Amino acid sequence: MNAASSYTGVAIALHWLVALTILCAFPLGVYMHELPLSPNKLQLYSYHKWIGISALLLVALRLAWRLGHRPPPLLSGMPRWQEIAAQAIHHSLYLLMLAVPLSGWLMSSAMGFSVVWFGVIPLPDLIGKDKMLGELLKEVHATLNFTMLALILIHAAAAIKHHLFERDGTLARMLPFIRQDSTQ
Ligand code: HEM
Ligand code: HEM
Repeated sequence: MNAASSYTGVAIALHWLVALTILCAFPLGVYMHELPLSPNKLQLYSYHKWIGISALLLVALRLAWRLGHRPPPLLSGMPRWQEIAAQAIHHSLYLLMLAVPLSGWLMSSAMGFSVVWFGVIPLPDLIGKDKMLGELLKEVHATLNFTMLALILIHAAAAIKHHLFERDGTLARMLPFIRQDSTQ
C-alpha cells in the first residue's frame, strides 16, 4: 500500500466507531420494538435513542472530515462495474447513516417524546406532536433501517471477498494497526 492509497487513523477510527454504534442500535431497535410495554422497554428505548444520536454525531464528524480529506482512490485492477457499485454503495450508506437517526429523532418528536441524550442533555424536538405523522415516520425509520442493513451486508461481504479471494489491500487499508501510511 502506498501513501496515496490508504485511509488515515481518523477516517478508520470514525468508520469503525460509526459501524459499532449502528451495529448496537440496530439489534436493540428490533428487540425493544417487540417487547410488551414495561419500565424495562422504556429504559431500552432511551438507550437506543442515546446510541442513535451518538451515531448521528459521529456521522456528522465523519462527513465533515471527509469534505476536507478526499478518500483514497479505489484500488486499481477492479472491473469498472465494481468501481461504480462500490461508490454507489458508499454514497448511499452516507445518506442512510444520516437519514436513519434523523428519521428516529423526527419520529420521537412527532410522538411527543423528547430526547434527553444520556439522560443529561435535552435535545430540541425537530417537529411538533402529530401522532399520525409519528406512525408514518415509524414505518420510514424501519424501512430505511432494513435498506441500510441490506447495503451493509453487501458492503461487508465485498470487503471480505476482496480480502480472501482478490487478496488486495481493500480491507487492510480500513483496518487499524495494519496500514503503513496515510493521506486521508
Ligand atoms: C455499519 C456498518 C458499516 C457502514 C455504515 C460502513 C460504511 C462505509 C463507508 C460509507 C465507506 C466509504 C468510506 C469513504 O470512502 O469515505 C466504507 C469504507 C469501507 N468499509 Fe465500511 N461500513 C460498515 C461496516 C463495514 C464492515 C463490517 C467492513 C468489513 C468487513 C467494512 C469494510 C470497509 C472497507 C474495507 C472500506 C474501504 C473500501 C475501499 O477503500 O474501497 N465496513 N464503509
Ligand atoms: C443509527 C441509528 C439508529 C438505528 C440503526 C436504529 C435502528 C432501529 C431499528 C432496527 C428499529 C426497529 C424497527 C422495527 O423493527 O420496526 C428501531 C426502532 C426505533 N427507533 Fe431507531 N435506530 C437508530 C436511531 C434512532 C434515533 C436517533 C431515535 C430517536 C431519537 C430512534 C428511535 C426509535 C424508536 C422510538 C423506535 C421504536 C419504534 C416502535 O416502537 O415501533 N432510533 N430503530
